[in-house]
Amino acid sequence: MNLPSFLWLWRIAAWSMGLTLTGYGLLAITGGVLFYTRSKDQGRSAWLRPLHIGLGTAVVALVLVLLAIGIIGTLGEYGRLGHSFHLLFGLTVVVLVLASAWSASRIAVERPWARSLHVTLNGALGIALAAAGLSGWQVVQKYLP
Ligand code: HEM
Ligand code: HEM
Repeated sequence: MNLPSFLWLWRIAAWSMGLTLTGYGLLAITGGVLFYTRSKDQGRSAWLRPLHIGLGTAVVALVLVLLAIGIIGTLGEYGRLGHSFHLLFGLTVVVLVLASAWSASRIAVERPWARSLHVTLNGALGIALAAAGLSGWQVVQKYLP
């Protein structure tokens, strides 16, 4: 395949990344409110937790879409993977987002470690998302006309 035919694919990647970062920001806000209402022992709106879980599920799906786009596009272009640090950063994001969703499923009163693990993993996820986004932005430059 020739170079311009991949442009639409990287365009989808850029849009998915925009939605992923938006979702991450909304998760940080809704997660922050969950934390606040719990620590103050206040009541919280019944929809807040489902909203947080729904947003989290959407972000997991978007990251898996980005993984598929990255692998398909790179294999189509070079026939093999491993061209830059973008691969390492991308895989780190995938592992962290899956670990975060798993830790979320473990959160319960009798498992206080799951809550702090969830928050720690999400802090690391923010840094990894920035690294994958910036390095992706860098490698996409050579596909632009
Ligand atoms: C990956 C998908 C995610 C899922 C499925 C998920 C799910 C959950 C669940 C089930 C809870 C427990 C809510 C409760 O206590 O009733 C929770 C808490 C929380 N989440 Fe997430 N979450 C995800 C991603 C994120 C992200 C990306 C962030 C931050 C950027 C975040 C921040 C928080 C915070 C701060 C809490 C409150 C912890 C506490 O009460 O101490 N979550 N999440
Ligand atoms: C969470 C976000 C992302 C993940 C998980 C991800 C994943 C991947 C993976 C696994 C590869 C294969 C890399 C290799 O084998 O060298 C790749 C390649 C690529 N990705 Fe991403 N990616 C993400 C975000 C982005 C963004 C935001 C862009 C920019 C629009 C982008 C553009 C590219 C490009 C152009 C390649 C081809 C690599 C090259 O030409 O060296 N990616 N991506």
